[in-house]
Amino acid sequence: LVLILDFGSQYTHLITRRVRQLGVLSLCVSGTAPLSSLAGLRPRAVVLSGGPHSVHAPGAPSFPDGFLGFAAAAGAHVLGVCYGMQLLVQTLGGAVEPGVRQEYGDMEVDITAPSSALYGEAGDRQSVWMSHGDEVVRLPEGFEVVARSVQGAIAAIEHREKRFYGLQYHPEVTHSPQGMETLRHFLFDVCGIKADWKMQDVLDEEIKTIQSMVGPDEHVICALSGGVDSTVAATLVHNAIGDRLHCVFVDNGLLRYKEQERVMSTFNSDLHLPVTCIDASEKFLSELKGVKDPETKRKIIGREFIVVFDELARMLEQKLGKRPEYLVQGTLYPDVIESCPPPGSGRTHSHTIKSHHNVGGLPKDMKLKLIEPLKLLFKDEVRKLGSILNVPESFLKRHPFPGPGLAVRVIGDVTAGNALEVLRQVDEIFIQAIKDAGLYDEIWQAFAVFLPVQTVGVQGDQRTHSHVVALRAITSEDGMTANWYDFERQFLVDVVKKICNNVRGVNRVVLDVTSKPPATVEWE
Ligand code: XMP
Repeated sequence: LVLILDFGSQYTHLITRRVRQLGVLSLCVSGTAPLSSLAGLRPRAVVLSGGPHSVHAPGAPSFPDGFLGFAAAAGAHVLGVCYGMQLLVQTLGGAVEPGVRQEYGDMEVDITAPSSALYGEAGDRQSVWMSHGDEVVRLPEGFEVVARSVQGAIAAIEHREKRFYGLQYHPEVTHSPQGMETLRHFLFDVCGIKADWKMQDVLDEEIKTIQSMVGPDEHVICALSGGVDSTVAATLVHNAIGDRLHCVFVDNGLLRYKEQERVMSTFNSDLHLPVTCIDASEKFLSELKGVKDPETKRKIIGREFIVVFDELARMLEQKLGKRPEYLVQGTLYPDVIESCPPPGSGRTHSHTIKSHHNVGGLPKDMKLKLIEPLKLLFKDEVRKLGSILNVPESFLKRHPFPGPGLAVRVIGDVTAGNALEVLRQVDEIFIQAIKDAGLYDEIWQAFAVFLPVQTVGVQGDQRTHSHVVALRAITSEDGMTANWYDFERQFLVDVVKKICNNVRGVNRVVLDVTSKPPATVEWE
């Protein structure tokens, strides 16, 4: 296990991913998490992430007292990256000061030590990605400088005996071309870790955990949305406990065009998982009536899902003579990270980005206990797991669809006018055009957004005062960061014409050309 302490850098999750790409399980926790929350973990390596703070700023985050003792007791090697290196140096008695030369962007570093643990046999000059204002000016006792930037700043340090290492630059970003090699060398050659984290092991492990958690006569409920995550989660749990899993598809009134029919027919024909459909659309929509605030909408939807599950549990209790105690959810790692930003990251709970309904939006008094077998995985990892579980390609390749559905794509009150119906039609035309153009698999996610804005148009010589819709298509690896997809001009011309000619109530279409960050993928 590699433990990553997050001090708020936008690149922290990339460190987590890089380590996993090297075949090693990595977990990212808040840099200020109390030591008690790490009990039981025995990391072979610890990475202290970068962060936006200066170690001298009031309230700058630091690992808890005793953390370095905990790491030493586990036999872990500790690598500080950028802020993480400065924190390590300051904690151990060295000095960090505002840099005379602030270094941002591409930079050359010279490896000054003839042989170092960090670089081994690496060549003597590397191009790396720097992003720091402060710099280390005095090393703690026993440390050695092993690389310097061409401007003279300390770029890499180590204390082999104590197993402390530091990199002032970011090896995790692609702008550091040899960074992955440095991480590989650190994990395998320095820490002696083996690349043994495989999807098949994750699967076996999860199945064992679920079998030991759910007693032999206990039953479990699973809400299937027809998306990748819940389908893979359900298939995995079905492998573990068989027909004691009861799958339900909830129509919350916030689904896409013909979603209910399409999903139910695929579950029955491709997946062989018995699924019950519950139509709760009236209740969801009446609870959402007049609500405009995005977080309130998300919380209401989270709460209403649980009302449905509790009701289902009651019905199953009558049928089976035993009330299901557990609920399966396809929660992913990014949902967990984004719903609960680590306190040490500089994003406090008041800066929660959005409450993903299956995490932050759950009511505190929920009776069902959660089974979240994908909680530690990124989307692309879930797709790999799904293919080991023989989940059909048609499911694995579906674009992600958020739990709160179209509610986060109708800006403001979802029940206003016929917003949902208009959005469904626009979305269907857009997605169908993408499929027809053979672009569906190239795009990570695409959808339309309904704006509560009316503009003046002219259609068939008539003045119109109709709605604006936005189109969004992105490329991404894991939904944590994203770029907007650059369609060819003719594709857009055709799709806009089709929307305005076929959907009543829309006279203007705009294209979202914002990446994440600064925007998020969904508009709410
Ligand atoms: P954001 O908007 O957070 O989206 O940048 C990142 C990815 O997550 C999806 N998403 C959700 N998925 N429940 C989900 O299951 C949610 O509440 C939720 N909110 C966003 C979004 O569609 C994108 O793929």
